[in-house]
Amino acid sequence: MSKVIQAHDLKFKPFIEAAAIAEAVQKMGSALKVEYQDKNPLFICVLNGAFVFAADLLRACDFPCEVAFVRLASYQGSSSTGKVTTIFGLDVPLKNRHVIVVEDIVDSGLTLSHFLKELTALQPASLKLAVLLIKPEALQVDIRPEYFGFEIPNEFVVGYGLDYDGLCRNLPAIYIKTDEN
Ligand code: IMP
Repeated sequence: MSKVIQAHDLKFKPFIEAAAIAEAVQKMGSALKVEYQDKNPLFICVLNGAFVFAADLLRACDFPCEVAFVRLASYQGSSSTGKVTTIFGLDVPLKNRHVIVVEDIVDSGLTLSHFLKELTALQPASLKLAVLLIKPEALQVDIRPEYFGFEIPNEFVVGYGLDYDGLCRNLPAIYIKTDEN
């Protein structure tokens, strides 16, 4: 992977390479198949950050499934505000559906905890989480994704859909904040 990159005022260095992400996503697709191949599950992709992960994960799921997209605004800059606003765009009935929420990263967990409560009220048949990255040290609520790719330290990361104030979503790998040059 290439060297340190700059986005706005911060520098980031390579952290998880594209091949390792691809392998983790394929594994997750195979594990999901075991549980969901006969259930036509509904994946709910949490925009914006999960769009790259969801696109790859769905194609790693070799069984009938559907996808919907929502937006939750709760994060600004490089530290969580803990502020959660409305869910936008959920236009599919969830009642009696097997639902899998697809999220890029669990940091404090506050965003997902709020969202999961709202989803539970819509009475899905089951509700699980597929997350690419977890920061266990940053968790403020009891959220344990049934499916996850990598546990990472409590540092800011970008790439593969994750941004720093709009930049870096297009990077094919994950980069981590650094002070190095
Ligand atoms: P939480 O509510 O603190 O778990 O934050 C969840 C949301 O914050 C994620 O869906 C991301 O959009 C954003 N986020 C948390 N950590 C990072 C990070 O390290 N890089 C980029 N975005 C992050």
